[in-house]
Amino acid sequence: MTLFKDLKPAQLSVLDKKEIIDFALGRLLPSPCSFADLGGIWDVDGAYTFHALENHDVSRACLVDTDFTDKALARAEKFSSLQTIKDNFGRPQTLKKIGQVDAVFLFDVLLHQVNPNWDEILEMYAQICSCFVIFNQQWTGGRNTVRLLDLGEEAYFANVPHNPEHPNYAGLFDRLDQIHPQHNRKIRDIHNIWQWGITDTDLIVKMKELGYALHYFKNCGHFKNLDNFQNHAFVFSK
Ligand SMILES: C[S@@+](CC[C@H](N)C(=O)[O-])C[C@H]1O[C@@H](n2cnc3c(N)ncnc32)[C@H](O)[C@@H]1O
Repeated sequence: MTLFKDLKPAQLSVLDKKEIIDFALGRLLPSPCSFADLGGIWDVDGAYTFHALENHDVSRACLVDTDFTDKALARAEKFSSLQTIKDNFGRPQTLKKIGQVDAVFLFDVLLHQVNPNWDEILEMYAQICSCFVIFNQQWTGGRNTVRLLDLGEEAYFANVPHNPEHPNYAGLFDRLDQIHPQHNRKIRDIHNIWQWGITDTDLIVKMKELGYALHYFKNCGHFKNLDNFQNHAFVFSK
């Protein structure tokens, strides 16, 4: 039998994410319900979308990412209620393609959003959903939300989980104003790098401003070996 104490932090975060899906779809929302999983691919091949589809009564779902894997696309074929959307979810066209849904999942993606920024993403998606299911690495290094690149190169690399030799990060500070060929935007604004340290206060205030109440919160512990980031799980709804 596997005990919680034997699980690695990454396995625990999988359980924490499934728990907030189950809370939102199983207890908060009407049944059947609909959802969009924004940025659901890297390293998990849509696993949270499939968990929701296999364990809840779902009338319609969207899995959105700029980068799909064959594994995710093959599994998606088995669900007629699932639409895959290969696009940037910060684009108004993507929001339109998704249409109205009950819930939006933002797992490990909010801190990567620039132009539109993380708070503008929340404003956009508040137009189409009544429930936000959020798991994010939250900033505990100060009272204010920070744009991590503004900390400068040394402090940036002290606060992100990648070393400066990683392909996305090698020579980053010399390349910030170069245009990224896939995303057609400056490298300083792409979602493939760590962008924000978002505080709980700023996230909760923003959601309150948009009319959403916090129904679930869990501090899921430190993220990797980073002193200034913790995994926090939230469910907001109105
Ligand atoms: C850190 S991974 C998180 C994957 C998964 N949600 C999880 O919890 O393990 C971020 C994923 O979101 C995608 N992503 C981030 N920002 C995006 C955006 N604005 N538009 C589309 N995809 C995005 C990335 O391509 C990547 O697949």
